[in-house]
This record gives sequence, structure tokens and C-alpha cells, in this order.
Amino acid sequence: MAKVTIDNIEIEVPDGTTILNAARMIGGEVVPPAMCYYSKLKTSGGYCRTCIVKVTQGSAKDPRPMPKPVASCRTTVMDGMVVQNITSPDLLEARAGVVEFLLINHPLDCPICDQAGECHLQDLGYEHGKMNTRYEFKRRTFKQIDIGDYIKLHMTRCILCYRCVKVAEQLTPGRVHGVMNRGDVAEISTYIQNAVDNEMSGNMIDVCPVGALTDKTFRFKSRVWFTKPVEGHRDCPKCSGKVRLWFKGNDVLRVTARKDQYGEVEEFICNDCRFHKKNISDWIVEKPTHIDRHSVISQNHYENLAQLKLDVSKQQKKLQAGNKK
Ligand code: SF4
Ligand code: SF4
Ligand code: FES
Repeated sequence: MAKVTIDNIEIEVPDGTTILNAARMIGGEVVPPAMCYYSKLKTSGGYCRTCIVKVTQGSAKDPRPMPKPVASCRTTVMDGMVVQNITSPDLLEARAGVVEFLLINHPLDCPICDQAGECHLQDLGYEHGKMNTRYEFKRRTFKQIDIGDYIKLHMTRCILCYRCVKVAEQLTPGRVHGVMNRGDVAEISTYIQNAVDNEMSGNMIDVCPVGALTDKTFRFKSRVWFTKPVEGHRDCPKCSGKVRLWFKGNDVLRVTARKDQYGEVEEFICNDCRFHKKNISDWIVEKPTHIDRHSVISQNHYENLAQLKLDVSKQQKKLQAGNKK
């Protein structure tokens, strides 16, 4: 076991735990954002640098600080390590620089992007972004590539996090796409066209942290915060059949995997469940999805309305009690 202190909170974690996962064990605000690491995908992480942290003491044996911010998803803890995330203004400035780089070529077309409302880059841009860009060069453009009936690729929004590549590698029979070239001209290879032709390919949509890969069957149907998510399941021979259904009225507009608090899917689902089961009768509905109140998706959500009613009635009782006095 190793003792590590993150933002003045001490925790003991098994040897070999990364700083990011140690922070997740603490939970709350000290958890660094992660745009490329995905606990369900092996070898993910190390590409985006959004998870950087400052190590002010390497270990109890060697207390020297690490000279530069390190990627917390790829750095394992040492006994006696001291880490700063939100308690270091320098680190937050460095992260703002990472976000600025991620946005250099990004179109930021959130008003027409299906990912808006559940986009980690949008959140990061909001939390760390600047009002203006300092980038004066021509933005990257790409030829539109049609990757089939179910997934829409917007290469300009891609942040090259490699998650979709890992999905193709680890969930489908053979990876046939990847990142071609390096640096400014790097792009997800056109062979992605072949990767989508298998029954688990839709999971690329769920793991993509931005709007580079979106669901064609849901495209432009509704802003996500106007839909109501509920947990549902069905007997599926290909996957667990445990999904999240996104309703508008009585229509199922979209089916996705269920995601945890870090935006990672709990269990990957097959394309049949995702794209071909859009009738209520296909599903056994369990309960409304719990949505974090700080998410825009929680707007108008009935789970919150119930809470709101409770708050209002508590407030009314308080007022009535006050009037009686
Ligand atoms: S990917 Fe995210 S940040 Fe980019 S346009 Fe879409 S919602 Fe906005
Ligand atoms: S398409 Fe999405 S998942 Fe794939 S590398 Fe780009 S941002 Fe990552
Ligand atoms: S989440 Fe660690 S480098 Fe991307």
C-alpha cells in the first residue's frame, strides 16, 4: 500500500494505482479531468494531457518535486507522494494552456453539435477557456468521410484521444482504423469506414469525449437536455442489454450505454440494442436516470422537479411556521 496526499487529502491506495485513480477514490473536486483515459479500455490515457497534476514531493524516500506537471492517468503513486491539483494556481494555468491547445483547431460549433450538453471539452472550455483565441493560422479542414448509416464522423471536432481506436481494437474482431500521420496533420484514418461494420462499433460514439463521432439515428432530433433519460433493459443475446433510453414524450429518440459519474460506460452494448430497438415495447423500463444537478441535462428533469417540489413544500412549511409566530 502507498500513502499519497492529493490537495491536502491523504489516502492509502494499493501499490501501482495511478494518481488519477487515487484521486477518483477520494472523489469530488480533486479528481482531474480525463479526456483520453478510459478505465474500461486497456492502454488508454497519455494522449490529451488534461489530467496533468503537480507532484510537489515524489515520495517519502525521495522528496524532490517532479520538475514538470505529469499526466496523472499514467503516473503511479509512490509512498509519501504529495500532489496538487485544484490547490495549485500554476497547475490550473497549465491546464488552461492544454485546453487552449485542444481548442486550437476545434470549431466550437456547440449550438449545432449533438454532443453539446454532455461534452467534456465543452465543460473544460467553460471552466478553463478564454474568451478569445490567440491562434491566427488557418484551421484544419478535412474531406467529409461517410462512415456508414449509423455513425457520423466530424473530423474537425476530433481531439485524437484514441478511445475509438481502442474500442475497435478491444471490442471488435479486428482493428482497421487508427491515427494516421503526426502532429498538426494527424487524423483518424479513413479506414474507420471498415471499423464500423461490426456489431459493437456503436460504442465508439459513447467513448468519444467530443462530438467527433455521433449517432446518426439521433442526429439533430433534439437537444439532449430536452430529452428524459431512463434506465431500461432487455434480454439481448449479444450484450448485457442494460441501456439508457432517452425519451421525448413517448418516443425513444436515442439508446446509449449507461455511464458512470466520470462519463465512462458501465457496460458496452451492441448495435442492435443501440440502433434497432427504438420502441418502448422493446424495453423494460426500470427508473429515471440519476443526473448530476450541475449537468445541463438535469434541466427540466422530473427527478429534479420532484426535488424542487420537496424544496418548495419545505420552504412553504417554514414560512407558515414563521407566520404563526
Ligand atoms: S465537440 Fe463539444 S466543444 Fe466541440 S462543438 Fe461539440 S459540444 Fe462544442
Ligand atoms: S473520433 Fe472521438 S474517440 Fe476517436 S480519437 Fe477522435 S475524439 Fe477520440
Ligand atoms: S486523461 Fe491523462 S493524458 Fe488524457
